[in-house]
Amino acid sequence: MTQDELKTLVGRAALDHVPHGCIVGVGTGSTVDKFIDALGEALKADPQRVTGAVSSSVRSTQRLEALGVKVLPAESVTGLGVYVDGADEIDPAGFMIKGGGAALTREKIVAELAERFVCIADESKLVQTLGAFPLPVEVIPMAAAQVIRAFAAMGGQAQVRAGVTTDNGNIIVDVKGLKISAPAEFEAQVNQWPGVVTVGVFARNKASLCLLGTAQGVKTLTF
Ligand code: 5RP
Repeated sequence: MTQDELKTLVGRAALDHVPHGCIVGVGTGSTVDKFIDALGEALKADPQRVTGAVSSSVRSTQRLEALGVKVLPAESVTGLGVYVDGADEIDPAGFMIKGGGAALTREKIVAELAERFVCIADESKLVQTLGAFPLPVEVIPMAAAQVIRAFAAMGGQAQVRAGVTTDNGNIIVDVKGLKISAPAEFEAQVNQWPGVVTVGVFARNKASLCLLGTAQGVKTLTF
């Protein structure tokens, strides 16, 4: 199976974890696009399959609205049952690196609202230790140079992602060369640096389960 087919497989499988008639939290990325496609098909058969969504990006909002899904502002809900999103890396404990699509801050905000984080990913995303994927960090532009120096002091090579402005009007710094063996501590530390909006380590908001697309089918990892 191709990577695209694996993404389709897990996108469809995620629907089994979305209760009928709920408001669902929706992440961002090519795997989530497959989930949104599957949701669109389900809504054709059953218009009440979900009653709305809270979206983590302009991109996902546009795709959801094109299918007729009512997208609610995060501020208008006090909680969600389920949030469905992809990952750039996920480790055996459910800790993730996210932000390859530059939506990490809004993803964390919506994930924080949800009781369960359903991660959908193809098997290439499963790693023993986070850090091979360049770590995305959303940064307020005037802090870029000092944040890059701070990562250099911990052995990382950081650079501003060219041509990218987040939905919040900030920049993304991508950091190579890190081995993140204590994700919760790392997330808490980096999130304290002035000018860091959010680091792309999801430890506080780790996955509750991961639907992993493999050549043998969907494997469910629970954390
Ligand atoms: C976007 C993300 C995505 O979930 C992550 O980049 C995975 O994307 P894809 O499903 O396209 O591989 O964090 O900010």
